[in-house]
Amino acid sequence: MQYGSFDSAKREYVIDRPDTPAPWANYLGSPAYGAIISNNAGGYSFVKSGAAGRIIRYRFNEQDRPGRYVYLRDDESGDYWSASWQPVGKPLDQYKSICRHGTGYTHLEAEYKEVRSEVCYYVPHGADYEVWRVKIINNGKKARKISCFGFVEFTCESFYEQDQVNLQYTQFITRTYFKDQFILQTINENCLNAVNESRVETRFFAIAGANVASYCGDKAKFLGNYRDYGNPVSVENGKLDGTLNYNLNPCGALHTAFVLENGKSVEFVFLLGQKRETEARELVTRYKDVGIVEREIDELKKYWHAKLDNLKVTTPDDNFNNMINTWNSYQCFITFAWSRAASLIYCGQRNGYGYRDTVQDIQGIIHLDPEAALDKIKFMISGQVSHGGALPLVKYSHNPGHEDKPEDQSYRSGTGHPTYRADDALWLFPTVWKYVAETGNITLLDEVIPYADSGEDTLFNHLKKAIDFSLNHLGIHGLPAGLHADWNDCLRLGASGVSVFVALQLYYAFEIMIRFAKHKKDTATEAQMTELKTRFGKIIEERCWDTDRFVRGITENDVVVGKPGDPEASVWLNPQSWSVISGFADEARGKAVLDLVHKELNTKYGARLMAPSYRRHAFDGALALLFNPGTKENSSIFLQTQGWLVLAEALLGRGGRALEYYLESCPSAQNGIAETRLLEPYVYSQFTESVDSPFEGRSHVHWLTGTASTVMVGCVEGILGLRPDIDGLRLSPAVPASWKSFTMEKVFRGSKLKIKVNNPDGHENSCKKLTVNGTVAEGNYIPASMLKAENEVVLEM
Ligand code: GLC
Repeated sequence: MQYGSFDSAKREYVIDRPDTPAPWANYLGSPAYGAIISNNAGGYSFVKSGAAGRIIRYRFNEQDRPGRYVYLRDDESGDYWSASWQPVGKPLDQYKSICRHGTGYTHLEAEYKEVRSEVCYYVPHGADYEVWRVKIINNGKKARKISCFGFVEFTCESFYEQDQVNLQYTQFITRTYFKDQFILQTINENCLNAVNESRVETRFFAIAGANVASYCGDKAKFLGNYRDYGNPVSVENGKLDGTLNYNLNPCGALHTAFVLENGKSVEFVFLLGQKRETEARELVTRYKDVGIVEREIDELKKYWHAKLDNLKVTTPDDNFNNMINTWNSYQCFITFAWSRAASLIYCGQRNGYGYRDTVQDIQGIIHLDPEAALDKIKFMISGQVSHGGALPLVKYSHNPGHEDKPEDQSYRSGTGHPTYRADDALWLFPTVWKYVAETGNITLLDEVIPYADSGEDTLFNHLKKAIDFSLNHLGIHGLPAGLHADWNDCLRLGASGVSVFVALQLYYAFEIMIRFAKHKKDTATEAQMTELKTRFGKIIEERCWDTDRFVRGITENDVVVGKPGDPEASVWLNPQSWSVISGFADEARGKAVLDLVHKELNTKYGARLMAPSYRRHAFDGALALLFNPGTKENSSIFLQTQGWLVLAEALLGRGGRALEYYLESCPSAQNGIAETRLLEPYVYSQFTESVDSPFEGRSHVHWLTGTASTVMVGCVEGILGLRPDIDGLRLSPAVPASWKSFTMEKVFRGSKLKIKVNNPDGHENSCKKLTVNGTVAEGNYIPASMLKAENEVVLEM
């Protein structure tokens, strides 16, 4: 079943059936003021942290409730409904609605009994409050008396968990007041004139551009006993009773009423934020002129669309186009900004940036916004400890040069992270490489950046230290130890058990260091890295290969994980794809291991992380056993790894395979099977249940996942073949033979490139001729020096 479609011109996903199989969400604002909203207006808002700065309530796992509700009531008949289908949930044969999720805004349109409503939710660019623009139109033939109620359920205090579980305390520190146009909620207000004034928090929920007919600041009075958001007694009665909260649960509820002649409309806004009374008043005054709203929404669209326009593709595959041009890119910016902080299933109690996740997230936006990437790269580099290991979690309050390290008990108790991961710092290599290659900014390597704990060094030396860290943490057979985990959070290979994935990452790191060293004419480092690469290459060859595959690891008891004949988990995806990405496997071996992957791991929704699922034969450190078979690390289609698989196939030139994998797990390609997929068909999820689950194809953990950036890289660098290096741009598309032509518009180092790829003979990867502004280039490479401000590039495959 299909519940919506892509409006690619407007860059919107348009949901025309509101009874989606799960709340389909969008992100508004930024972590400074974040708002998550579903197609039924469920969701929550927060200041700076989803866990510690929560201003309105949302209950996970509970029918997408509550949210930002706008109720409408016909004051003649007493009939009432909501501007989002839920929470009132009128029968869908009488209630029509459309939700347009766009870049930074969500627009809900509904029509019920000839009253049309349009509510646009957004956070103005750079602002720390939210706006709900409400427009109500009488589409009938006679005048209507209408009431409109806006409602939010405030948290009693900003700590989400305290608010949920410690009501014996939190209910008694908060109150609500009515202030002409808004409900003001105070928390710890008695501290206002005390020394610890910083404890005071105030939130407001306002209406601007319309008069308040009645108000309520007490949730129980708003809803009525034994009622729910779908049938609040006060909406039913057509009047809020003016109760303000003192020692129960606060809410903001405001009522406005009007007579609407036929064909006429009214417009006003609701405002919500964490502000002091005077600031709230100023905002109410500002938004009296609702004209401001159109300008702000326009500004938001321009801001986002300009970023996304830095790469525009038109290929024969609309799913690919929709994802690359808008949704995958937008999701990459969301993961880049929000990390794993807040969604409809978790709210970021970890108060910082997970190292590997964030360093990977950066990769998803480098081709669109290298400047933003640069800031985050430097920030993450400053999360590296002076011995080269990375902090598993870089706190939001990160203070480079002064941080505790995982060796310190204080770090462990403060973050809940017991020790180092084997892979964290190694993600810096592909990320820094991609940034330098995209921008040509090799001088970045000489920039001095502090270490997390103490001291500072050039970025190049930070990278060397990352290698030192791996070399100082070798396990048996001289391979990199698995430590607390490698990429796979469920693999405890231990201090002397070793990870093949990390060995391949390290091998790739040597290669990147060689490239950098060559450019810097640093022959000593080049020689050292070359020697290490050869040395480790030999060990990998001897220890990590068995018969027809790369194994996954070796435990400290010398048990090889992932070898032929193992009753469970005998083939693992990542070491095969990474043997290609790292450059370790040559073409023939790369193709052979990826053929094995296709045979043993591929399913209709993508390749499994490993197979068979663990049930009875897991080794001690295989925590994946805890998950149901076909789920998460226990043999699901762990979607981030599809991105590496797409990339690996593309690097081998097998465009058909690359696109096959891409489409198997592409959200947009699953638009017609929403009941199977469950989650939004416009964003990636963390994983999809695979063949061992009775619910094969069901996807979980929306939005904030490494899938977004990794698949993006698989498409941009892999399928589209946009492979910059320090001196220019290589074009090496790997596409299915059926793609006879396609175009790309790309901004590269300030130049605009219009690239046309012709493939009349149906190749998967080749270059017959490349012309840049009419001049034939050598091979498939465009030296940066050939580029003008605007360029016409034609690649004949
Ligand atoms: C989750 C984690 C990520 C980890 C992956 C595999 O996505 O956020 O850090 O690499 O699981 O275990």
